[in-house]
Amino acid sequence: MKSISNIFMEVLSRYGDHVDKKLEDYLSRMCNSEFIDVVLYQVKTGGKRLRPVMTLLFAETLGEDFTKALPEACIVELIHEYSLIFDDMIDHSVVRRGKPTLWREFGTNFAILAGLWYREAIEEAILESNVPNIVARLVSETIREIIEGERLDILLEATGREDPYYLKHKIIDRLDKNSIEGIYLEMIKKKTAALFRLSCMLGALAAKKRIDDHVKAAAAYGENVGIAFQLIDDLLDIYGEFEKFGKEIGKDVKEHKLGNAVIVNIVRNGSEEDVRKVLQILTKDKVEEEDVKIIIEIADKYRSREKILEEASKYVEKAVNAIKDLPDNEFKRKLIDIAKFVVYREF
Ligand code: IPE
Ligand code: IPE
Ligand code: MG
Ligand code: MG
Ligand code: MG
Repeated sequence: MKSISNIFMEVLSRYGDHVDKKLEDYLSRMCNSEFIDVVLYQVKTGGKRLRPVMTLLFAETLGEDFTKALPEACIVELIHEYSLIFDDMIDHSVVRRGKPTLWREFGTNFAILAGLWYREAIEEAILESNVPNIVARLVSETIREIIEGERLDILLEATGREDPYYLKHKIIDRLDKNSIEGIYLEMIKKKTAALFRLSCMLGALAAKKRIDDHVKAAAAYGENVGIAFQLIDDLLDIYGEFEKFGKEIGKDVKEHKLGNAVIVNIVRNGSEEDVRKVLQILTKDKVEEEDVKIIIEIADKYRSREKILEEASKYVEKAVNAIKDLPDNEFKRKLIDIAKFVVYREF
């Protein structure tokens, strides 16, 4: 039997080169020959291309030739890369996909400019999409949701920032055990699930015979897969292996983040004593490797890993259920496989 990650690699090998070529096209337009390396660095460091794969699979499931949906596929990958460029500066992340992050490689000033460049490349792709007016609005709304998600993510950090806005609004100052799950869910729906939702919707919108119910089904599938995706990203941040995951392990804890599913599970279900210990670590000026180990010990006590896997599986079930009325074909079956890959992935 093929493993879930093999199935994913197979789908990627069908679409990957087409997407990459088109991405390079949008990013290169009008770019100074001395700046192009900076701009292309972000996409050339790799990445799973999961969001464009979903766009293209939805287009094909609904009877469209995937090459017709390449602008839409590039839009969502460009939004993703755009958000990563800024997210890595915000999170002080130095490594992604096993390589230095863009700001680390070229400096923050050029990372900011490259990020702005991505926003304009998205516009290029929108102009070539099937229904530019509708797509432009959806893209803008999605980006604003991502920004709001990132704002909440920062405010959920326990300490470590000097920004006056952060000091005034940080959530730890008014944290209560009963509201943390709700705030966390809202935050991940916005920072991550919104883009998965858009990725799937744009695939459905790229089909010549656009049907409202299909777009709605795609949106529901994307949102639920997106929530599961971020739950697993949080899990891998703490329990993953660097060689496979490509990002520093324990970085959310080192960045004092309450907005990680593992931490949320402890705050919600842990004894007063354990919650106190965890908050004490997260509010330290410098969180050490040893502290991450203590957090893992506490998380294990409350079966955090198992619970998050179960939770993610539930969202994947919802996602699969959302597309039950879509035409039954090999592409829809791949969408089901990919939803499962999101939970069982190690990278
Ligand atoms: C990372 O997304 C950002 C999150 C939403 C957690 P991916 O894990 O899809 O990143 P790449 O593109 O494969 O590196
Ligand atoms: C999701 O959050 C990222 C974006 C919305 C860009 P993370 O901060 O968890 O993503 P990683 O772990 O850096 O990839
Ligand atoms: Mg980050
Ligand atoms: Mg982040
Ligand atoms: Mg993460």
